Amino acid sequence: MTVTVIVGTQWGDEGKGKITDLLARDMDMVVRYQGGNNAGHTVVIKDEVFKLHLIPSGIFYTNVLCLIGNGVVVDPAVLLGEIETIRGKGYSADNLRISSQAHVIFPYHRDLDAAQEKKHEAGRIGTTCRGIGPCYVDKFNRRGIRIGDFFNTDLLRQKLEWNLKEKSFYLNNFYEMKVNYNLEEIMNEYLGYFHAVKKLVVEESSTLVNEAVAKKKNVLLEGAQGTMLDVDHGTYPYVTSSNPIAGGACVGAGLGPQKINEVIGVVKAYVTRVGGGPFPTEIAGQLGERLREKGGEYGATTGRPRRCGWFDGVVMQHAAKINGLSQLAITKLDVLDELDKIEICVAYELNGKRITYFPTDVYRLEKCQPVYEEMPGWKEDTTKVKDHKDLPANAKKYLEKLAELANCRISLVSVGAERGQIIKI
Ligand code: GDP
Ligand code: IMO
Ligand code: MG
Repeated sequence: MTVTVIVGTQWGDEGKGKITDLLARDMDMVVRYQGGNNAGHTVVIKDEVFKLHLIPSGIFYTNVLCLIGNGVVVDPAVLLGEIETIRGKGYSADNLRISSQAHVIFPYHRDLDAAQEKKHEAGRIGTTCRGIGPCYVDKFNRRGIRIGDFFNTDLLRQKLEWNLKEKSFYLNNFYEMKVNYNLEEIMNEYLGYFHAVKKLVVEESSTLVNEAVAKKKNVLLEGAQGTMLDVDHGTYPYVTSSNPIAGGACVGAGLGPQKINEVIGVVKAYVTRVGGGPFPTEIAGQLGERLREKGGEYGATTGRPRRCGWFDGVVMQHAAKINGLSQLAITKLDVLDELDKIEICVAYELNGKRITYFPTDVYRLEKCQPVYEEMPGWKEDTTKVKDHKDLPANAKKYLEKLAELANCRISLVSVGAERGQIIKI
């Protein structure tokens, strides 16, 4: 029996979907523990590409129970679309469950997200505009509407009416938008979604998780986003509104920390970021573009081009510390195959001093200059390699350097998007 957390160690898009799908084969349960449809997790099975935003990436195995945990915020229209897509491709979604404690994204959350991004004088975050932040704000302000509220229509109408009044005032008067929400229309639309997924809703989702653990099942807790987007430990305010870190898995699934046996950090062999905020190892110009093209670095949710940078060992050490990583899954090694030389950031220089800790303040972080060590490339195709011993010598050295910086062992190396392109160590 193992309880494993899969966590992104950078700014998201490390390949969590691929690694979750891969490990899900040996799992009994996969739980998504935070975020919403700001996430885009790609699973490639032969020539079919799935981009999952809400459904756990274990859904392609019918014997794996997949739970959207209490920590997730759910846009029900997106969820239904995803269920249809999966069914349309011949897979079943009957093994999906949704926590009744998960909060629901309404149109006013999306409108507030967009309005804030448009007006934000203090600087834009570059959000996905999916309403994630405003939905979590309501959750923590105790004004949120949870899936469980849909079982009581009168209570739901009351909560929604209050929210519509408050949000309309805010949007029309402060954000100078012209919204005119209709309570009954939104009630009908959302009750329609609810009835379509009602039989998948579980009222005691943490009991479901804890019973699986008590029965010595294999449980995987799938994080979205990544450590550097964590609202507490990332590059605040350029972060998402939840806790993607391993600790967030306990909150978002309803499980005690002592039950977790393994924490797998998913690590891209270089770094990407989508949205605003400091990014010390960002590569400007042609080389950055080359990595973007080779790595297909375009957002799985918004299609925005991702900013590309060299591997950042300071970020790696920060992620190893905050998450208590026990294993690393390195992804996209193949994207570096053609490079002559590869830079690795081993420290930052801040005001003339060399530092190896990650500054918690973005204004200090903006002043940091990366200190690089150069490594020779391997100039060989790695996409068909199945065994670590068959990797080019320089690729092995590169991996050793990453493991050394993380002070953690590598258990998986991914050399292509497809499910089978993996090296187990
Ligand atoms: P996630 O959000 O962490 O699940 O990552 P995304 O799915 O948003 O982004 C990762 C992208 O890289 C997707 O397009 C994957 O199909 C692709 N990918 C994953 N692993 C590899 C790999 O080892 N090599 C290559 N070339 N692509 C990969
Ligand atoms: P996955 O799970 C990469 C980024 C946005 C923005 C910031 C806040 O696929 O790795 P939000 O809409 O969450 O309020 O936006 O966070 N962001 C992601 N970047 N991958 C993601 O998810 C992301 N989810 C949010 O671009 O900078
Ligand atoms: Mg993604």
